[in-house]
Amino acid sequence: MSCEKTYLMIKPDAVAGGKVGRIIARIEDTGLCIERLELATLTPAQAAANYAEHEGKPFYESLIEYITSGPVVKMLVAGPNAVAVCRKLMGPTNPAEAAPGTIRGDFGLLVDANVIHGSDSVASAEREVGLFFT
Ligand code: RTP
Ligand code: MG
Repeated sequence: MSCEKTYLMIKPDAVAGGKVGRIIARIEDTGLCIERLELATLTPAQAAANYAEHEGKPFYESLIEYITSGPVVKMLVAGPNAVAVCRKLMGPTNPAEAAPGTIRGDFGLLVDANVIHGSDSVASAEREVGLFFT
């Protein structure tokens, strides 16, 4: 069993849509621990740092515009296999392909406003936690 930390972020569409409480309840239901939690609007620099791997892709500019468009909920979540457990809970990137019972499947419709971000590996998690929770 590996005890990990991961970075989760409830995206602007879900915050504006009043889904924060229900999404946080699902994270808590796993038994993982929310160690840090903060409501904030990302600066363009923070957004670019978080999504650096996507720079140059066709959706990059709209992704940065969207993720900085309003408040997000930033979370540091910890526990056994936290990275993989949270990615499974979130569901696949496109909500249209996400099964009912996953956060994206239940709360989202469109790939470009897909409710929640989660680190995709332990290495990404360390980098993202460092970016948002110093
Ligand atoms: P995230 O980083 O936000 O947790 O999402 P993810 O790992 O599931 O997906 P990723 O490949 O990292 O993509 C980052 C975000 O870019 C948008 N995207 N749009 N139109 C498209 O084909 C497309 N592909 C990706 C999504 O909003 C995705 O969450
Ligand atoms: Mg990603």
